[in-house]
Amino acid sequence: MTHILFEKKGSVAIAAIHRPNALNALNSAVLDELDELLDAVGADDAIRVLILTGSGEKAFVAGADIGEMSTLTKAEGEAFGKKGNDVFLKLERLPIPTIAAVNGYALGGGCEIGMACDIRICADTAVFGQPETGLGITPGFGGTQRLSRLVGPGMAKQMIYSAKNIKADEALRIGLVNAIYPQEELMPAALKLAETIARNAPIAVRACKEAIDRGLELPMDEAVALEENLFGSCFETEDQKEGMGAFLEKRRHEPYRNR
Ligand code: CAA
Repeated sequence: MTHILFEKKGSVAIAAIHRPNALNALNSAVLDELDELLDAVGADDAIRVLILTGSGEKAFVAGADIGEMSTLTKAEGEAFGKKGNDVFLKLERLPIPTIAAVNGYALGGGCEIGMACDIRICADTAVFGQPETGLGITPGFGGTQRLSRLVGPGMAKQMIYSAKNIKADEALRIGLVNAIYPQEELMPAALKLAETIARNAPIAVRACKEAIDRGLELPMDEAVALEENLFGSCFETEDQKEGMGAFLEKRRHEPYRNR
C-alpha cells in the first residue's frame, strides 16, 4: 500500500494514514486502500484490536482532499460522500475494537474517521474541527451524524455551523476524546490500551461491541434482549470456561484463545 503504513505488534494492528505532502488528507486512492485494508483486518483472526493514526507528527488526517473535491459536480459530490461513508461504516462495523490515536490535526474527514472508531485518545497537540461550512459544503463523511451522537446536537451544531476548530482540552471536556497524552506518549498509551483489551476474551469483547453499537439503535427492551442473547452465547465458549474456572480455582487464566 502507498498511502497506509501497516504493522502488527502481536495481536494489535496499527494503520497510519500516510500522505506526507497533504497532511494525510483523504483522497479516493487513500479511501480505496483503507477499504482493502479493512477487509484484510476483518478477515485476520489473529488481530484483536486496530489502532488508527496519522503518519508524521503534525496531522492525524487534515480532512478529505480539497483539491480532489474542488471541481466535483452534484452527482460526483454525492458519490464521493458515499465512498467515504461506505468505508467509514466498514471501519465502524469492524467486529474488533478500534482506537483512534489522534496525533495532530483531525479536521473534516479527519475528525469523521476518528469518530468512526470505538475509542479516541489524542496528543496534546491535536486539533479537531468540522471546517466544511467555511468551504461551502456540509461535512460529508458522517460528521453531522456521528458528532451529534457523540457530543450531543447542541455542541455538534456549534462546531459545524461555526467551522471553528477546538483544541485537545476542549475535545476532552465535550467527550470527543477519552484522554490526552504528551505527543511522544500517545502511541505507547494507545498500544497499552490495545494490549489490555487484547488480553480479554476476544469473543466477549466483540459481543460487547455488537451489543453497544446495535443496542444503541434499538428500543431498550429489544436492546437488553440483544444483550441477553450475546451474554448467553458466551457460555458456549472455551474462553468463558477458562476465565470462570481460573477465578474459582484462584489462579490466573491461560491466555484467551478466541474460542
Ligand atoms: N486537502 C488537500 N490538501 C491539504 C489538505 C486537505 N484537506 N490539508 C492540507 N493540505 C495540504 C496543503 O494544501 C499543503 O500542500 P502544499 O504544501 O502542496 O501547499 C500541505 O497539505 C500542508 O498544509 P498547509 O501548508 O496548509 O499547513 P499549515 O500548517 O499551514 O496548516 C492546516 C495546517 C490548518 C491543517 C491547513 O492545512 C488546513 O486548514 N487544511 C484544510 C483542513 C480542512 O479544511 N479540512 C476539511 C476538508 S473538507 C472535508 O473533509 C469534507 C468531508 O467531510 C468529507
